[in-house]
Amino acid sequence: MKTTFGPQKILFPMPTSLVVTGTIEKANIVTIAWVTLLTSAPPTLGVSIGTKGYSGKKILKNKHFTVNIANADIMVEADFCGITSGKDIDKFGKTGLTMMRSKHIPSPIIKECPLNFECKLVRSSIVGTTNHFAGEILELYMDTDKLGDVNNPGSFDVEAMNPLIYIGGAREYRKIGEKIGDAYQIGKTLK
Ligand SMILES: Cc1cc2nc3c(=O)[nH]c(=O)nc-3n(C[C@H](O)[C@H](O)[C@H](O)COP(=O)(O)O)c2cc1C
Repeated sequence: MKTTFGPQKILFPMPTSLVVTGTIEKANIVTIAWVTLLTSAPPTLGVSIGTKGYSGKKILKNKHFTVNIANADIMVEADFCGITSGKDIDKFGKTGLTMMRSKHIPSPIIKECPLNFECKLVRSSIVGTTNHFAGEILELYMDTDKLGDVNNPGSFDVEAMNPLIYIGGAREYRKIGEKIGDAYQIGKTLK
C-alpha cells in the first residue's frame, strides 16, 4: 500500500549548504538545501536559489560563489542564515562564522564547514520562482584532520565530517548514520 500526496508536499533529505556571495569586504551567506553535482567533466555543482532573494541577484551580477557544506556543529548558524536576509544584516558578523580567502574567486569560503567548493557561474536559467545556477568547481577544500590520507579525497572521514542533513517537507535537521555498505559493490551480490 502507498498513500499519494500529489506533487506539493515533497519530503526529501538534502545536505544543508551555505552559499557565500560577494567579496571578503561584503560577503553574504544563504542557506540552501537544493544543491547537487551536475556533471563530473567539467566538475559542476548545481544550486537552486529563489529569484526574489538577495543572493540570487548577487550571483547573477558577480558570476561566482562558494558552496560550503554545513556540519551539525553549526546547525543554529546555518538555520539563522536561512531565515534572515543579507539585505538587512551582516550574517558573518552576526553568526561569528569565519571567512577564508578563496584561491580563484573573490567570494570567501567558510572555515567551520568541512567541505568547500569555489564555483564560477557557467550557466543560469529560471524554473518557476527559482534560479538554477550551474557553477564550475574551480577548487575543492577538505579539512585536513578528517582525511585518512592527505593525497586521497576518498579517504575523507564522513563520520567526523558530520554533515547537517535537512529533511525538506518535514522541516527538520538530522545527522547521518553509520556506513552500511560499499556503493557499486554491494549490488553485485545479486548478480
Ligand atoms: C534549511 C533551509 C534550506 C533552504 N533551502 C533553500 C534553497 O534550496 N533555495 C533557496 O532559494 N532558499 C532556501 N532557503 C531559504 C533561504 O535561505 C532564505 O530565503 C534566506 O533568507 C535568503 O537569504 P538572502 O536574502 O540573504 O539571500 C532555505 C532555508 C533553510 C532554513
